[in-house]
Amino acid sequence: MNIESPGMPYNFADLEPAMSRDTLVFHLLRHQRVCFDRMSAMLRGTEFATLSLEEVIRATERNPAQHALYRYAAEVWNHNLYWRSMRPRGGGVASGLVGDQIRARFGSHERFVREFKEAASEHFGSGWLWLVWRAGSLEIVTTSNAGTPLVRGDTALLALDLWEHAYYLDHQNRRSAYVSTFLEELVNWDHANRTLAELNSSSDTRAAARPRVALEPERVGIL
Ligand SMILES: [Fe+2]
Repeated sequence: MNIESPGMPYNFADLEPAMSRDTLVFHLLRHQRVCFDRMSAMLRGTEFATLSLEEVIRATERNPAQHALYRYAAEVWNHNLYWRSMRPRGGGVASGLVGDQIRARFGSHERFVREFKEAASEHFGSGWLWLVWRAGSLEIVTTSNAGTPLVRGDTALLALDLWEHAYYLDHQNRRSAYVSTFLEELVNWDHANRTLAELNSSSDTRAAARPRVALEPERVGIL
């Protein structure tokens, strides 16, 4: 199998006090790793066994007979981006190219924050909240359950897990407090900037969807 066992780019306690060690331990070991193990068992001996994670998701999404495999694979991919959407001492006003694009699309960081929080509170049940690059602009979108923008042709810049297991230990049922903490103390704008910069520099058929603002590489930091 060509898919790595999932992990985080930081230690379990590194996001404290914004996100507790217990939340990250349970989330990785009791949720994402379970999805990974079930996906691995389903892949074994099949035509999908040598594919990348992204290829498995795209190959199974439209096939009802493979939908359990799709859900587990998508949850692994979604969580991989979620871990990278946070960093120790993150949060605050968006920087770099993404900051420029937020002001171009939403008018101000404050209005972006308002729309991001509204999207989280209006989403019913389990799912995901995303900041994506779509057809030359930023968009805030949600998906239900294991849904992923990977199969919609969007480029996901940030992922926020809206399943209760992501925040219940720290915030109980207060999803709004979890989303505020994510924006104020955790969000990793550097990762979003790197993804958008990679998209900008790619020479494939997505050229029409490139950012309209010139890149300023020195502003795209590395975690
Ligand atoms: Fe999760």
